[in-house]
Amino acid sequence: MIAIEISAFGGPEVLRPAERPMPEPGPNEIVVRVHAAGVNRPDLKQRQGGYPPPPGASDIPGLELSGTVASVGAVPGGESSRWAEGDLVCALVAGGGYAEYAVVPSPQALPIPAGMDPISAAALPETYFTVWTNVFRRGQLRTGETVLVHGGTSGIGTTAIQLARAFGATVYATAGSDVKCAACEKLGARAINYKTDDFVAEVRALTSGRGVDIILDIVGGDYLARNFDALADDGRLVQIGVQGGASTTISLATLMHRRLTLTGSTLRRQSVAQKAEIAREVEQHVWPLLSSGIVAPVIDRTLPLEEAAEAHRLLESGEIIGKLVLTVERGGG
Ligand SMILES: NC(=O)c1ccc[n+]([C@@H]2O[C@H](COP(=O)([O-])OP(=O)(O)OC[C@H]3O[C@@H](n4cnc5c(N)ncnc54)[C@H](OP(=O)(O)O)[C@@H]3O)[C@@H](O)[C@H]2O)c1
Repeated sequence: MIAIEISAFGGPEVLRPAERPMPEPGPNEIVVRVHAAGVNRPDLKQRQGGYPPPPGASDIPGLELSGTVASVGAVPGGESSRWAEGDLVCALVAGGGYAEYAVVPSPQALPIPAGMDPISAAALPETYFTVWTNVFRRGQLRTGETVLVHGGTSGIGTTAIQLARAFGATVYATAGSDVKCAACEKLGARAINYKTDDFVAEVRALTSGRGVDIILDIVGGDYLARNFDALADDGRLVQIGVQGGASTTISLATLMHRRLTLTGSTLRRQSVAQKAEIAREVEQHVWPLLSSGIVAPVIDRTLPLEEAAEAHRLLESGEIIGKLVLTVERGGG
């Protein structure tokens, strides 16, 4: 089968199509004939050598995919699998999505939401699992609360804005241009252009001086102190990215006096059991919203799998709104 390899760490050009052996499913795994694979910022870091796959994961990039179940591995204990050959699924993987076939731990696959096409479904797992576990489980977002989403037009941001709105929150989002701010507003957020305005002052002004209940942050670095300033008392800061730096100084006095919570997580390193639990919750609470069209993935464009390098160039350019999806084109369908 054809897969996109990281031939050496470096720029997008190191992504090259290569022939790889057909994968076989192990116990509790399925092999999926991939129709489409989502592209995420962590893939860029992996390509640069800064985000190695966890032990046992494929070295091929790609954290999410959709496709048809091609084979089903044995289920220990003799039970029958949830999946059968021919089922249409989308799935979270720790690697291996940029390929014609991929191995998926069975509990990390979900049915494609009713009425959704496989290309859109390929853009769901990484961001929906991440936003669910961080905003709703760690951040404990409740109806009527306020949330600030940094990077509102990122794959993560477009998902977080819609889900928080769908669960009854008031959403503010930062973005770096007027075009991106308009995209955030279209999704239901009040946008702040962080390049022309101070997001702390804006958030304080928009919330009558109170601050927001939750911040979902992908920047880190010197944003941490500013995020504390933009939080309401008892507010929760959820860190899921460190594009602005992984180390910073934090005022424990501020944290204590204002009863703030600082938390965060990464999805990829979690166990199959932990991901299975997130999958169950997402299927129960979020899949109905996708099936009914209340929330939907925002897809900037699709490219053929062989153009993975171009997809990485585009994502790095910062021009993208929402997600990029790679499609597997096969002769004869
Ligand atoms: N922890 C996890 O489990 C997990 C899982 C998936 C992704 N992530 C992280 O989440 C982040 C987003 O991932 P993605 O795939 O959705 O990325 P993406 O679509 O490539 O978006 C990256 C975004 O960062 C924004 N940005 C950069 N500097 C900013 C700043 N100072 N303030 C506000 N926005 C800023 C850019 O928007 P502008 O052009 O507006 O600046 C862009 O929208 C990445 O850091 C990624 O590593 C974490």
